[in-house]
Amino acid sequence: MANNVNPREPEKKPGIWRSFWTLMTSVKAPWGWVGAATLVSLFGAQLSLMIPDATAKVATGDISMGAILFMVVCMFLSALEQAVSQILSRIASSKTEMNFQKLMLKKNLSLPMPFFDRNMASRLITRTTSDSTLVAEFFGWSIPYFPAALYRLVGVAIILNSYNWRLVALEAVMFPVILLVSFFSGRVGFTWNNRIQGKLSELGGYLAEILVNVPLVKVFVKEKVEEEKGKEAIEGIYKTKKKYLAFSSTISFLSSSESILQTVVVVLGGAALVNAGHITLEQWIAFYMYATNLVRLFQNIFRYYETIKRAQGSSRRMAEIIVEKSEDMGGGRTVPSQPGDLKFENVTFRYDTDTVLKNVSFTLPAGKTTALVGPSGAGKSTIFGLLERFYDPESGRVTLGGVDAKEFHKSSWRQAIGYVPQSSPLFSGTIRSNMTYGLDRTFTDEELARAAKDANIYEFILSCDNGFDTDVGERGCKLSGGQRQRIAIARALLKDPQILLMDEATSSLDPEARSEVEKAMERLKEGRTTVIVAHEIRSIEDADQIVVLSGGEVNGIGSAGQLASGNALYRRLKDLQDGTAVLGKA
Ligand SMILES: Nc1ncnc2c1ncn2[C@@H]1O[C@H](COP(=O)(O)OP(=O)(O)OP(=O)(O)O)[C@@H](O)[C@H]1O
Ligand SMILES: [Mg+2]
Repeated sequence: MANNVNPREPEKKPGIWRSFWTLMTSVKAPWGWVGAATLVSLFGAQLSLMIPDATAKVATGDISMGAILFMVVCMFLSALEQAVSQILSRIASSKTEMNFQKLMLKKNLSLPMPFFDRNMASRLITRTTSDSTLVAEFFGWSIPYFPAALYRLVGVAIILNSYNWRLVALEAVMFPVILLVSFFSGRVGFTWNNRIQGKLSELGGYLAEILVNVPLVKVFVKEKVEEEKGKEAIEGIYKTKKKYLAFSSTISFLSSSESILQTVVVVLGGAALVNAGHITLEQWIAFYMYATNLVRLFQNIFRYYETIKRAQGSSRRMAEIIVEKSEDMGGGRTVPSQPGDLKFENVTFRYDTDTVLKNVSFTLPAGKTTALVGPSGAGKSTIFGLLERFYDPESGRVTLGGVDAKEFHKSSWRQAIGYVPQSSPLFSGTIRSNMTYGLDRTFTDEELARAAKDANIYEFILSCDNGFDTDVGERGCKLSGGQRQRIAIARALLKDPQILLMDEATSSLDPEARSEVEKAMERLKEGRTTVIVAHEIRSIEDADQIVVLSGGEVNGIGSAGQLASGNALYRRLKDLQDGTAVLGKA
């Protein structure tokens, strides 16, 4: 329905936890790996609780073989645990990343056309790449970390309390300071990382745009201006990093001061407690080590907490795409081999605010050729978009053989249509792979040669070093516009569809090549329902029917002869091309 393109619809912003939930339920998370990493981290937490106690024993004179061995084994196991939990976390996060990327890819390919009109490709790329990575980090690192951190926290409290409750009280005095410093260091890191990322993506966006439009920059001799703009973005990154440095060194100073304060509290407080006979020397040393570990523990807690916050932002952005409705593929009917007439019945359509087609009705007779003519912006390509069912009419309907288009399955519908678009983009790959793109059978070289000859591109292909296996470059940019278009025509010829749509299919050909392609088109059109959009009135004068469009409305329908005598707009368009009209009147 066209209302999914309504811009007035309030923007959906799913809640953070709902987004999380939506994501979690739409992808298979590697819970096994996450669970294993969590268990190993818990084991590591237990070790980290044992080490200070064991070390303190040895440090205060227990140099029995048993005590020393116990300490060394604990330390060794702790090192091993760190390595293993790192591996497990990496696997968990990499797997999550892969699953999310696959999910986003699948979702992107299933979304309807209006979605892509509303969303910039570069944003969708970020959703699939960096947002997936951030959410994966949460899985691999944050989830396993928190249970272990909690375990350590409670463990330290229990151990200290078992030594003497006054130690817990002493640490509690430090608590607000530790919390505050850890919170600020996490916050500052998070905020400034985001700012730097923002600046970097600004530069990325700028570069992506300028590099695609290099010819335009050169034509207008704007290299200097663009360089200045680019420099501004680059300096923006530098300035942000410089400011971050000032904040982060302040934080680092605060952290060091906190450590010093902690040492002072532990040493003075501990010494007092030892003197008073509340704790032993050994417990004092262990206390010192536990207290130091605690500071690190809190700093990590806040770091991982910020990772979660970042992952929340990412998962919300990803969930916004996941909850988008996939393209409705229509009913279950398949298009028959003799489908009958195509009809527009009172079709009204808009992309966003402005109505582009107003109550448009016409018939595209089966097996006949219909030409669409009209000024630029009249809605010709839009009609093709509706014929391909990229968009649905807001009201009215498109029918085939009297049956509403919606009753046909879109894959069968689109299979029945050959489409040569206004600009003919190619995929990277060879001429062969481009000619056979989307066709589900293999073709012999003879068939390819036949189609290439009919599209008047055969000579050119032969002149290339590798013939049909010549690489066309990214987006076909190593070929001229005309060559690209003729390859697209050859592809339509190979597809052998019941319905043929050509949007100014011969617009980028020179007059000689054009007449050759037009001849081929005559053969191709035979027996097919063909719709041609052409600005050249001369080239469509022999069409069975011409529909004149103006401002999204049908202005006239008839043969070239009928329109030339009865339709003012058609006459004006024709006269303009014949050079007999005054430009200003057109
Ligand atoms: N994806 C889109 N989103 C919003 N508006 C669009 C979109 N595509 C086209 N339009 C608008 O719809 C109107 C009709 O465009 P359309 O491309 O159908 O014209 P056209 O007749 O094919 O013109 P041309 O001869 O220049 O190719 C124009 O006003 C255009 O601005
Ligand atoms: Mg167009």
